[in-house]
Amino acid sequence: MADSSIEIEIRNVTIDDLSKIFHLGEKVFTSREVSNLYRTWDEYEVTGLFNSEPDFMLVAEYQDKVVGFAMATVIKKARSAWSYGHLLWLGIDPDFSRRGVGKMLFVKFKSIMEQEGVRMLLVDTQADNKRAIAFFEKLGFENPTDHVYMSLYLN
Ligand SMILES: CC(C)(COP(=O)(O)OP(=O)(O)OC[C@H]1O[C@@H](n2cnc3c(N)ncnc32)[C@H](O)[C@@H]1OP(=O)(O)O)[C@@H](O)C(=O)NCCC(=O)NCCS
Repeated sequence: MADSSIEIEIRNVTIDDLSKIFHLGEKVFTSREVSNLYRTWDEYEVTGLFNSEPDFMLVAEYQDKVVGFAMATVIKKARSAWSYGHLLWLGIDPDFSRRGVGKMLFVKFKSIMEQEGVRMLLVDTQADNKRAIAFFEKLGFENPTDHVYMSLYLN
Protein backbone atom coordinates (compact mmCIF):
# COMPACT_ATOMS: atom_id res chain seq x y z
CA MET A 1 0.00 0.00 0.00
CA ALA A 2 1.18 3.53 -0.74
CA ASP A 3 2.14 5.81 2.13
CA SER A 4 -1.23 6.93 3.50
CA SER A 5 -0.05 9.32 6.18
CA ILE A 6 -0.89 12.52 4.31
CA GLU A 7 -4.25 11.28 3.04
CA ILE A 8 -5.86 10.46 6.36
CA GLU A 9 -8.67 12.76 7.45
CA ILE A 10 -9.65 13.06 11.11
CA ARG A 11 -13.25 14.19 11.54
CA ASN A 12 -16.25 14.00 13.84
CA VAL A 13 -18.56 11.05 13.40
CA THR A 14 -21.83 11.03 11.55
CA ILE A 15 -24.58 8.47 11.95
CA ASP A 16 -23.34 6.69 8.83
CA ASP A 17 -20.08 5.87 10.61
CA LEU A 18 -21.62 3.94 13.49
CA SER A 19 -21.75 0.45 11.98
CA LYS A 20 -18.27 0.97 10.48
CA ILE A 21 -16.89 1.80 13.92
CA PHE A 22 -18.58 -1.19 15.46
CA HIS A 23 -17.23 -3.63 12.88
CA LEU A 24 -13.75 -2.10 12.98
CA GLY A 25 -13.83 -2.57 16.75
CA GLU A 26 -14.68 -6.24 16.24
CA LYS A 27 -11.58 -6.51 14.06
CA VAL A 28 -9.31 -4.63 16.48
CA PHE A 29 -10.47 -5.81 19.91
CA THR A 30 -9.71 -9.50 19.55
CA SER A 31 -10.10 -12.06 22.32
CA ARG A 32 -6.53 -13.25 21.82
CA GLU A 33 -4.80 -9.86 22.04
CA VAL A 34 -7.05 -7.69 24.22
CA SER A 35 -9.49 -10.02 25.93
CA ASN A 36 -11.21 -7.48 28.16
CA LEU A 37 -11.68 -5.01 25.35
CA TYR A 38 -13.14 -7.86 23.30
CA ARG A 39 -15.54 -8.76 26.11
CA THR A 40 -16.80 -5.25 26.74
CA TRP A 41 -17.06 -4.06 23.14
CA ASP A 42 -20.55 -4.11 21.68
CA GLU A 43 -22.79 -2.00 19.45
CA TYR A 44 -24.26 -0.17 22.46
CA GLU A 45 -20.84 1.31 23.24
CA VAL A 46 -21.04 3.02 19.87
CA THR A 47 -24.72 3.98 19.80
CA GLY A 48 -24.74 4.98 23.48
CA LEU A 49 -21.78 7.30 23.12
CA PHE A 50 -23.24 8.70 19.91
CA ASN A 51 -26.34 9.62 21.95
CA SER A 52 -24.47 11.06 24.91
CA GLU A 53 -21.06 12.28 23.66
CA PRO A 54 -21.19 12.75 19.86
CA ASP A 55 -18.75 15.67 20.00
CA PHE A 56 -16.11 13.39 21.52
CA MET A 57 -16.26 10.73 18.82
CA LEU A 58 -13.72 10.92 16.03
CA VAL A 59 -12.94 8.79 13.04
CA ALA A 60 -9.88 8.53 10.84
CA GLU A 61 -10.83 8.12 7.21
CA TYR A 62 -8.71 6.98 4.29
CA GLN A 63 -10.31 6.99 0.84
CA ASP A 64 -13.86 6.76 2.25
CA LYS A 65 -12.87 3.92 4.60
CA VAL A 66 -12.95 4.29 8.39
CA VAL A 67 -9.52 3.09 9.52
CA GLY A 68 -9.56 4.30 13.11
CA PHE A 69 -11.75 5.78 15.81
CA ALA A 70 -11.53 7.47 19.19
CA MET A 71 -14.42 7.80 21.63
CA ALA A 72 -14.29 9.67 24.90
CA THR A 73 -16.28 11.20 27.70
CA VAL A 74 -15.76 14.16 30.00
CA ILE A 75 -16.15 13.59 33.72
CA LYS A 76 -17.12 16.64 35.74
CA LYS A 77 -16.82 16.52 39.50
CA ALA A 78 -19.31 18.23 41.75
CA ARG A 79 -17.72 21.00 43.85
CA SER A 80 -14.53 20.94 41.81
CA ALA A 81 -13.20 23.02 38.95
CA TRP A 82 -11.43 19.96 37.61
CA SER A 83 -12.78 17.88 34.81
CA TYR A 84 -11.27 14.79 33.26
CA GLY A 85 -11.24 13.67 29.65
CA HIS A 86 -11.43 9.90 29.57
CA LEU A 87 -10.44 8.29 26.29
CA LEU A 88 -12.69 5.23 26.43
CA TRP A 89 -11.99 3.51 23.14
CA LEU A 90 -9.25 3.87 20.58
CA GLY A 91 -8.86 1.47 17.70
CA ILE A 92 -6.80 1.49 14.53
CA ASP A 93 -7.25 -0.91 11.62
CA PRO A 94 -4.28 -3.32 11.84
CA ASP A 95 -3.59 -2.66 8.14
CA PHE A 96 -2.87 0.96 9.12
CA SER A 97 -0.93 0.45 12.33
CA ARG A 98 2.31 2.37 12.95
CA ARG A 99 1.37 4.98 10.34
CA GLY A 100 0.60 7.71 12.82
CA VAL A 101 -3.20 7.31 12.65
CA GLY A 102 -3.56 6.75 16.39
CA LYS A 103 -1.43 9.78 17.07
CA MET A 104 -3.47 11.93 14.66
CA LEU A 105 -6.68 10.89 16.41
CA PHE A 106 -5.13 11.60 19.79
CA VAL A 107 -3.89 15.08 18.76
CA LYS A 108 -7.40 16.03 17.65
CA PHE A 109 -8.94 14.50 20.78
CA LYS A 110 -6.53 16.46 22.97
CA SER A 111 -7.35 19.75 21.26
CA ILE A 112 -11.10 19.12 21.75
CA MET A 113 -10.47 18.41 25.44
CA GLU A 114 -8.45 21.63 25.76
CA GLN A 115 -11.35 23.56 24.25
CA GLU A 116 -13.63 21.89 26.82
CA GLY A 117 -11.43 23.16 29.65
CA VAL A 118 -10.41 19.64 30.69
CA ARG A 119 -7.51 19.57 33.15
CA MET A 120 -6.38 15.95 32.91
CA LEU A 121 -6.64 13.17 30.35
CA LEU A 122 -7.15 9.57 31.44
CA VAL A 123 -6.63 6.35 29.54
CA ASP A 124 -6.77 2.78 30.67
CA THR A 125 -6.16 -0.64 29.25
CA GLN A 126 -5.17 -4.06 30.50
CA ALA A 127 -1.62 -4.47 31.77
CA ASP A 128 -0.55 -6.90 29.04
CA ASN A 129 -1.56 -4.53 26.22
CA LYS A 130 2.06 -3.56 25.67
CA ARG A 131 1.63 -1.71 22.40
CA ALA A 132 -1.15 0.50 23.78
CA ILE A 133 0.98 1.27 26.83
CA ALA A 134 3.97 2.10 24.60
CA PHE A 135 1.69 4.27 22.47
CA PHE A 136 0.28 6.20 25.43
CA GLU A 137 3.72 6.65 26.98
CA LYS A 138 4.99 8.04 23.67
CA LEU A 139 2.18 10.59 23.81
CA GLY A 140 3.20 11.71 27.29
CA PHE A 141 1.01 9.67 29.64
CA GLU A 142 2.72 8.65 32.84
CA ASN A 143 2.15 7.27 36.35
CA PRO A 144 0.67 3.93 35.28
CA THR A 145 -1.36 2.43 38.10
CA ASP A 146 -2.18 -1.26 38.20
CA HIS A 147 -5.81 -1.99 37.54
CA VAL A 148 -6.98 -5.55 38.02
CA TYR A 149 -9.71 -7.17 35.95
CA MET A 150 -11.30 -10.26 37.45
CA SER A 151 -13.81 -12.63 35.95
CA LEU A 152 -16.26 -15.20 37.24
CA TYR A 153 -17.73 -17.94 35.09
CA LEU A 154 -21.45 -18.59 35.54
CA ASN A 155 -23.07 -21.86 34.55
C1 LIG B 1 -2.39 1.16 20.26
C2 LIG B 1 -2.87 1.69 18.92
C3 LIG B 1 -4.06 2.63 19.14
C4 LIG B 1 -1.71 2.46 18.25
O1 LIG B 1 -2.19 3.05 17.05
P1 LIG B 1 -1.18 3.35 15.80
O2 LIG B 1 -1.92 4.15 14.81
O3 LIG B 1 -0.60 2.08 15.34
O4 LIG B 1 -0.05 4.22 16.51
P2 LIG B 1 0.89 5.37 15.85
O5 LIG B 1 1.35 4.90 14.51
O6 LIG B 1 0.17 6.66 15.91
O7 LIG B 1 2.11 5.34 16.88
C5 LIG B 1 2.58 6.46 17.58
C6 LIG B 1 3.71 6.02 18.48
O8 LIG B 1 3.21 5.11 19.48
C7 LIG B 1 4.21 4.09 19.73
N1 LIG B 1 3.69 2.77 19.29
C8 LIG B 1 2.57 2.52 18.53
N2 LIG B 1 2.42 1.20 18.35
C9 LIG B 1 3.46 0.60 18.98
C10 LIG B 1 3.85 -0.77 19.13
N3 LIG B 1 3.16 -1.79 18.57
N4 LIG B 1 4.97 -1.03 19.83
C11 LIG B 1 5.70 -0.03 20.39
N5 LIG B 1 5.38 1.29 20.27
C12 LIG B 1 4.27 1.59 19.58
C13 LIG B 1 5.42 4.44 18.88
O9 LIG B 1 6.26 5.27 19.66
C14 LIG B 1 4.79 5.23 17.75
O10 LIG B 1 5.66 6.13 17.12
P3 LIG B 1 6.67 5.57 15.94
O11 LIG B 1 5.86 4.70 15.03
O12 LIG B 1 7.15 6.84 15.31
O13 LIG B 1 7.74 4.80 16.67
C15 LIG B 1 -3.27 0.53 17.96
O14 LIG B 1 -2.21 -0.40 17.93
C16 LIG B 1 -4.53 -0.24 18.34
O15 LIG B 1 -5.62 0.07 17.85
N6 LIG B 1 -4.39 -1.27 19.23
C17 LIG B 1 -5.50 -2.17 19.59
C18 LIG B 1 -6.59 -1.47 20.39
C19 LIG B 1 -6.06 -0.86 21.68
O16 LIG B 1 -5.27 -1.44 22.38
N7 LIG B 1 -6.54 0.39 21.96
C20 LIG B 1 -6.12 1.13 23.13
C21 LIG B 1 -6.98 0.90 24.33
S1 LIG B 1 -8.73 1.23 24.06
